[in-house]
Amino acid sequence: MSAEQAPGDGRWAVETHGLTKRFGENIAVNGVELLVPRGCAFGYLGPNGAGKTTLIRVLLGLTHADAGTMFLLGHPVPKRRDQALARVGAIVDEPRFHSHLTGRQNLQILAAAREPAARDRIDPSLERVGILHRADDRVSKYSMGMRQRLGVAACLLGDPQLLILDEPMNGLDPAGMHEMRDMIVSLVAEGRTVVLSSHLLDEVQRTCDAVAIVDRGNIIHQGPISELLAGAALVLEVECSDPERAKRLVAGTTLGAQVVVSPQGLELTLPGGTDRGVTAEVNRILVEAGISVYRLQPVRASLEAWFLQVTSRLGDPE
Ligand SMILES: Nc1ncnc2c1ncn2[C@@H]1O[C@H](COP(=O)(O)OP(=O)(O)O)[C@@H](O)[C@H]1O
Ligand SMILES: [Mg+2]
Repeated sequence: MSAEQAPGDGRWAVETHGLTKRFGENIAVNGVELLVPRGCAFGYLGPNGAGKTTLIRVLLGLTHADAGTMFLLGHPVPKRRDQALARVGAIVDEPRFHSHLTGRQNLQILAAAREPAARDRIDPSLERVGILHRADDRVSKYSMGMRQRLGVAACLLGDPQLLILDEPMNGLDPAGMHEMRDMIVSLVAEGRTVVLSSHLLDEVQRTCDAVAIVDRGNIIHQGPISELLAGAALVLEVECSDPERAKRLVAGTTLGAQVVVSPQGLELTLPGGTDRGVTAEVNRILVEAGISVYRLQPVRASLEAWFLQVTSRLGDPE
């Protein structure tokens, strides 16, 4: 790449164009165009094997890209890697520490490799992640959740503008997940950007403001979660006096609804982008046919339903 390479757009914490990484025939990251706005929690969401860890490793310069360009905090990488990474904290895979040393001793070792100010951030970082009271215990005595927190504390030694966390919820129990989620939210409240990868749809939906959905190395969709949900199917639940006849009536219209009869009544699934005025239309059709409508309720499909709709492999379990 030439020295004249255009600078990145400072609006983005992460910006990639055509980023590609192959392992032999296998394209783990395929022409990825990623734009992560600053100051948000951003989820990189996809099933196992989708290429999430590989993308993160490429961003951090732990492995080379085969094609494409990328910027971290506006700095071109790998050209200005040191400058970029000075303000980036990352946890890839499980954070690794010397388990026979204490949490504080581990951070002292890490701080020694950084700018002098990092030393002064040791105690505030430990406090920040809620393990200051255990700082002088050996890491071997820490739970998985505490190790994750120590990992975040290690990131905070560099006062990062951008944190990149690979599957931060992995191995955590529900309470640990809850704490991690709160911590991410508070890091964003401090003005930092957090990019996290996950195969857990629910966690991304709860934690993140924006998301990129990735499958087999390709980004299928990205944007604010609220926008993605607007593209999701609209589901109408209908309780009425004659569900079987109602089903035939609705299926015979041009609404494009898929209709299922369940013990609760009818469930109509309408295509993404359908106006909620369709609710009144369904009501009219049924009432005009002499069917009594007891309940008619629009339910927005969750990101999960939408994710299942758009990815080919349906959230294969761990
Ligand atoms: N070092 C490697 N050598 C060969 N193939 C790899 C290597 N790392 C990852 N892969 C392959 O790249 C694809 C993406 O893997 P990965 O980035 O780990 O996905 P994820 O983190 O989304 O689960 C998978 O098909 C995986 O087998
Ligand atoms: Mg991974």
